[in-house]
Amino acid sequence: MVDMDRISISLPTKLLGEFDEVISERGYASRSEAIRDAIRDYIIKHKWIHSLEGERAGTITIIYDHHASELMKRLTEIQHENGDLIVATLHMHLDHDHCMEVVLVKGDAKRIRELTDKLTSQKGVKQVKLTVMVPGGNIPE
Ligand code: NI
Repeated sequence: MVDMDRISISLPTKLLGEFDEVISERGYASRSEAIRDAIRDYIIKHKWIHSLEGERAGTITIIYDHHASELMKRLTEIQHENGDLIVATLHMHLDHDHCMEVVLVKGDAKRIRELTDKLTSQKGVKQVKLTVMVPGGNIPE
């Protein structure tokens, strides 16, 4: 039998409510199983990002709450610190509370990953999606 540990976590009521709706739609019998799958997905995504190597071009799309204090300033600072990696940034005022930014990047995959991790870990950032391409289209067959 697999070793199990029991943990206790605190979640905002709204977030838990949405999670419960999703797992009910997907037919999960228990919250625990759904959380285990979500954690596995999280780990797989992390490992995929960390396996990237070499020169890459891509986009980092982020959605954040522009009311979060100091967040916009912090995101701008992070982008300035990585000015050599960032080709352009597109900003869209998504709705009343949220902004969406598409950051075009080109450079070393490790640095693109570090930038993505840094943006993801900021409080108030709701979603981050990284897309990477191989410049020149030299994808190994
Ligand atoms: Ni905006």
